[in-house]
Amino acid sequence: MLLEVRDLHVEFRTRDGVAKAVNGVNYAVDAGETLAVLGESGSGKSVTAQAVMGILDMPPGRITSGEILFQGKDLLKLKEEERRKIRGAEMAMIFQDALSSLNPVLSVGDQLGEMFTVHRGMSRKDARAKAVELMDRVRIPAAKERVKQYPHQFSGGMRQRIMIAMALALEPALIIADEPTTALDVTVQAQVMDLLAELQREYNMGLILITHDLGVVADVADRIAVMYAGRIVESAPVHDIYKAPAHPYTRGLLDSIPRLDQKGQELYAIKGLPPNLMRIPSGCAFHPRCPMAQDVCRTDEPPLYDVSEERGSACHFWRECLHG
Ligand SMILES: Nc1ncnc2c1ncn2[C@@H]1O[C@H](COP(=O)(O)OP(=O)(O)O)[C@@H](O)[C@H]1O
Ligand SMILES: [Mg+2]
Repeated sequence: MLLEVRDLHVEFRTRDGVAKAVNGVNYAVDAGETLAVLGESGSGKSVTAQAVMGILDMPPGRITSGEILFQGKDLLKLKEEERRKIRGAEMAMIFQDALSSLNPVLSVGDQLGEMFTVHRGMSRKDARAKAVELMDRVRIPAAKERVKQYPHQFSGGMRQRIMIAMALALEPALIIADEPTTALDVTVQAQVMDLLAELQREYNMGLILITHDLGVVADVADRIAVMYAGRIVESAPVHDIYKAPAHPYTRGLLDSIPRLDQKGQELYAIKGLPPNLMRIPSGCAFHPRCPMAQDVCRTDEPPLYDVSEERGSACHFWRECLHG
C-alpha cells in the first residue's frame, strides 16, 4: 500500500475549547488508485490531508494519536528535515486557490523551473525547457510563449493546470488534490478533473481527491471515503455507493446532487448543519440530522460495520439503508 492512515486523531486547542477535527480516520490509497474523500465543509477532510503532507498548523493543531504509513514508513516518526524531502518530491498537494498558492511576482516558467533547479540541480536553461514541457503536458496552449507570463495573466482553469504541473514536476508517487476544481465554473471543472485523472493514470500515481461535491467524482474515483465530524462514515468502491448508499449521510449527499433531468425542481438538502466539533453529539454524530435515527443512535457510537469485504458503514441501520 502506498499510503495508509491509521486511527488518526487531530485536535485544535483554541481559546474557546478543544475542537476534535479528526477522530480516528482510517484510509488507504495504492499506486494507480484514486480515493475520493467526501463530506460537507468542516468534516476534517483538509486537516487529515494536511497531517499526511506534514503541513498542519501546529499549534493550534495537535496529532494526538495514529499512524501515517507512506511506502511503509510512519511519517509521524520522521524528523522535519526528512519530511521536507518527501514533500514535493514524493508527495505533492494541489489546492483550491491557485492564485494564492502561486507567487504573483515570478513568471510561471520561473516557478515551474525552480522545482528542477532547486530539487534536481538543473541549469536554468534546462529547467526552462522542462517548464515548457510540463505546460504542454497539462495542455496549456502556446506554452513556449506563455511560460514568461505571470499567474494573474492566466484564467482560473489555466492557473489550476499550472498547479497540476507544479505538483507533477518531480513525479511524486502520491498527489493530494484538495477541492482542486471548486473555484472553477462547471465546464472548466470537468476539463481540469479529466486532465487530473488522465495524468494520474499515465504516471500511475496514487491520488487523493478531496471534494464536497459527489457529482465530480463518479468518473474518476476508484473508492470513496465519506467523512462526517472527523470520522469515515462510509468507505466503498465508487460503483457500490452510486448503486445504493449504506449510510444515510451518503444518501443525503447523493440526493443533493443537481441532476440534469430534474432541472427546475427544488434540490434536496440534508436538514440542519454539521456539528460544532467542540460538542460532537453522543452516539452517532449524525443522529440529530438523520431521518432514520432510533434511540440506539443517540447513545451508541456505531463502529465501521463490514458491509462487504471492501465496504464499510458506520451506521447501526446500514442494512435498512442499503435496501431501503
Ligand atoms: N487552523 C485551525 N485552527 C483551529 N481550528 C481548525 C483549524 N483548521 C481546522 N480547524 C478545525 O477543523 C475543522 C475541520 O476542518 P477541515 O479539515 O478544514 O474541514 P473540511 O472537511 O472542510 O476540509 C474545522 O471546522 C475547524 O473546527
Ligand atoms: Mg477543506
